[in-house]
Amino acid sequence: MKIVLLGAPGSGKGTQGAELASHYGVPKIASGDLLREAVASGSELGQKAKAAMDAGELVSDDTVIGMIRERLNEPDAQNGFILDGFPRSLAQAEALDQLLDELSRPLQRVIHMQVDNEEIVGRLAARGRADDTEEAIRNRLAVFAEQTEPLVTYYEQRGLLTPVNATGDIDAIQTRLIEAIEAA
Ligand code: AP5
Repeated sequence: MKIVLLGAPGSGKGTQGAELASHYGVPKIASGDLLREAVASGSELGQKAKAAMDAGELVSDDTVIGMIRERLNEPDAQNGFILDGFPRSLAQAEALDQLLDELSRPLQRVIHMQVDNEEIVGRLAARGRADDTEEAIRNRLAVFAEQTEPLVTYYEQRGLLTPVNATGDIDAIQTRLIEAIEAA
């Protein structure tokens, strides 16, 4: 079970990723969670990441790739993983391919979670995380369109992409995701 959840901020990657991880008995590995842990710990990595995160910009590829490389090498990730929020740029997607190649563990499927922008703004404004200000949300959406959406084509060309409608009832979305994964 080696799955990437690709989707705009607020598309439900975290919510659905946690359910999928428990359904399949593999860890959910979320770059945003790992970065927030680093910020909370006050580590050097966290101090470097904080300004970019607060502004809704991407943290540098090198930082994030190094962090994910370490996490994927941990014992609990050896039988699979649900990646949430990584990769988020072409450089990250290429680094992931290379890393999984080295480990002889190719990706099984990339799920593109589709939600329209107005619904996203409503969801995130209601949540109120540090980077859920209207300005940071709009910037995260712009950064997604510019730097992350090219990955849709990247994975389509590799025959790995499945789009899933990620609006509506949370349990119904989970069912659609499991169907998409098992049909692959
Ligand atoms: P990250 O933590 O990945 O945030 P994000 O992508 O902006 O995503 P969110 O956590 O906001 O949304 P989600 O899709 O997980 O949805 P969720 O389930 O939480 O990244 C934060 C920052 O870290 C980035 O801006 C960047 O600075 C940095 N970063 C992270 N990864 C990086 C990387 N790879 N490279 C560089 N920088 C990186 O749901 C959102 C809300 O909607 C919740 O309140 C939830 O309850 C609600 N909700 C969920 N599903 C539904 C539904 N079906 N109906 C109604 N409400 C719903």
